[in-house]
Amino acid sequence: EKCGYASFMLKEIAEQPKAVADTLLGRIDGSGTLSLDEVRIPPGVLREVDKVVVVACGTAFHAGLIAKYAIEHWTRIPCEVELASEFRYRDPILDQQTLVVAISQSGETMDTLMALRHAREQGARVLAICNTNGSTIPRESDAVLYTHAGPEVAVASTKAFLTQLVACYLVALYLGQVRGTKYGDEIGDVVRDLSGISGAVERVLGTMDPVRELARSLAHKNTVLFLGRHVGHPVALEGALKLKELAYMHAEGFAAGELKHGPIALIEEDLPVVVVVPSPRGRSVLHDKIVSNIQEIRARGARTIVIAEEGDEAVVPYADHLVRIPATPTLLQPLVATVPLQVFACELATARGNEVDQPRNLAKSVTVE
Ligand code: F6R
Repeated sequence: EKCGYASFMLKEIAEQPKAVADTLLGRIDGSGTLSLDEVRIPPGVLREVDKVVVVACGTAFHAGLIAKYAIEHWTRIPCEVELASEFRYRDPILDQQTLVVAISQSGETMDTLMALRHAREQGARVLAICNTNGSTIPRESDAVLYTHAGPEVAVASTKAFLTQLVACYLVALYLGQVRGTKYGDEIGDVVRDLSGISGAVERVLGTMDPVRELARSLAHKNTVLFLGRHVGHPVALEGALKLKELAYMHAEGFAAGELKHGPIALIEEDLPVVVVVPSPRGRSVLHDKIVSNIQEIRARGARTIVIAEEGDEAVVPYADHLVRIPATPTLLQPLVATVPLQVFACELATARGNEVDQPRNLAKSVTVE
C-alpha cells in the first residue's frame, strides 16, 4: 500500500499535488464561479453572517489561522480562530449570525466535536471542513465541505493540511461571492491562481534533494526555530509542530516581529532558524521587514535556512541555505511554503532513526478530550 515509498508519510507528501487538485475539482466553473453544493446553508443566511469562528486542533488549527487572513480579506467579516479544546470553556459569544467553521481531517476529534456542539447549542451555524466521509463532525454540522485528500494513514498530517487550506480558501471566496463584497473582482483571479497551485506544489516536490541533505546534516541538533510573518507565521508553527512530533526535537514557531520581544535571546552560534519569507511583490513592507529579521539573527550567529520565492534576490546575502518556492499570491503561499518543512521534518526524523508513520505517544485520531 505504500506503493514503493519507504513510509506512508513520504507517499502522502508526494500525493499533495493530486490532493489539492481533487479538492478543487468540480467546485469552480470555467468563468471562475464557485458552486459548493455541499454547503447547504442558504445564501440568505450566509449574507447575514456577522462573525466567523474557526475551531480546530493541531495542524487543522494552523489551517484555521491561515483561513482568518483569507476570510477577513475577501469577505471583510471578522474572523476568530480558536483551539477547539479551549473554545467552550471561555463562554464564547455566539448567536444565529455566527458561522462556525470546524476543521478536522478525521472528523472524530473529541475537542472539535464538543466545540461544535457548544456552538450549535448557542444557535450558531456550523460548517465542517473534513476529510472523512460520514464521520461524526460532518454528521453533526449544518453543512460540510469535504477535502479530497484520500485516506491519510501517517499520524502526522500533511496532504490533509494542504487540502484544508484549499477548502478554507474556497469557503472564504464563496462567502465573498455570496455577499458580493468589494473584493468580488479578485475572486476570478484567485480562482485562476488556485488552479495553478497543484502544479506549483509538484515543482516544489521536484526540488527537495538539498532540503533532505540539509535535514540529515542537522540530525544531531537539539533545537530548530521557525519564523514567519502574516500567513507565514502559521506556516512556521506548522513546521515546528511537524519537527516536534516526528523528530522529537525542541522546535518553536514565532511571528518574526516578536523576535525582539523575547525570542531573540535564544539565538546562539549555529542555531538553525528556518525563515518563511513573504513575496517581495504585493506586500513588500512585510518582505523588507523579514529581510531585516534575517540579518538580525544572522548577525547573532544563527544558521539561516531561508524559504523564499524564485527571483527574490534580497535574501541571498543572508541565507546560509536557500530553498526556492514558486512565486504565488501572498495569501496562497502556505500551499507551497509548507511542503519543504514537511520534507525537512520527515527526513530529519528518519535520520534520527524514528518511525515517521507512527510517532511515539501519538494517535491518528484523538477521540478523548
Ligand atoms: C499533526 C496532527 C494533529 C491533528 C489534530 C487534529 O500532524 O496530525 O495535530 O492535526 O489532532 O486532528 P483532526 O484534523 O483529525 O481533527
